[in-house]
Amino acid sequence: MGRILIAIDGPAGAGKSTAARLLAERLGYTYIDTGAMYRALTLLVIRNNIHWENEKKIIPLFEKQKITQKGEKTFIDDENVSTEIRTNRVSRAVSIVCRHPEVRKRMVELQRELAQSAGIVMDGRDIGTVVLRNAELKLFLTASEEARAKRRMKDLEALGKPLPLAEVQQNIRNRDRLDSTRKIAPLKQADDAIVVDNTDLPIDEEIEMLVRMAKDKEIEHNGNR
Ligand code: CDP
Repeated sequence: MGRILIAIDGPAGAGKSTAARLLAERLGYTYIDTGAMYRALTLLVIRNNIHWENEKKIIPLFEKQKITQKGEKTFIDDENVSTEIRTNRVSRAVSIVCRHPEVRKRMVELQRELAQSAGIVMDGRDIGTVVLRNAELKLFLTASEEARAKRRMKDLEALGKPLPLAEVQQNIRNRDRLDSTRKIAPLKQADDAIVVDNTDLPIDEEIEMLVRMAKDKEIEHNGNR
């Protein structure tokens, strides 16, 4: 079967990571969480006391330490930062840190390197529009703002870092605004993306649907080779 590239984009808390992880598992593909990479860089910015707006001081961080992803885990050098990058401290800063043009250029290079062979599910904000413009399947996942905030609240509870719904909703709204209005690679649906609104869609049904779409594309891709 011809393995393909799958790009998943959408606003904060739309369930991209969960869907991407499960879809990759079902297909035997590799999952790449680009948001986690921006979050890891943001954690470095915070730890080094660098101002979020100071791109000149942020760029050398790429040379000093290595951000990698192994399975679902995110590392800075050998340190597993998978939990720490989900905290509100990082969520508040990430959409500012990732606006800088050179930051995005470096990250896109890293992400394309990771996706050199097919059989990839990659999720983020600019995957279908920029990083993997050639992806055979592009999905744009979305849900109502309230549903997205409630899901994120549960994630934070599970991390042992609970926050009131209003605060979580505010963070989601702020990030969506910053992500959709930035000059470079804004969050937007690719022309050839399929929109999936999962507000009232149970996760197992959603995954079944995505697996079917992917298998159809694999067959189509096989035929085209
Ligand atoms: O909270 P959620 O899982 O929805 O977000 P994330 O995927 O962890 O991404 C965190 C932030 O990184 C986003 O709000 C964007 O500001 C930024 N990001 C981006 O600019 N481009 C990407 N490809 C992925 C994330």
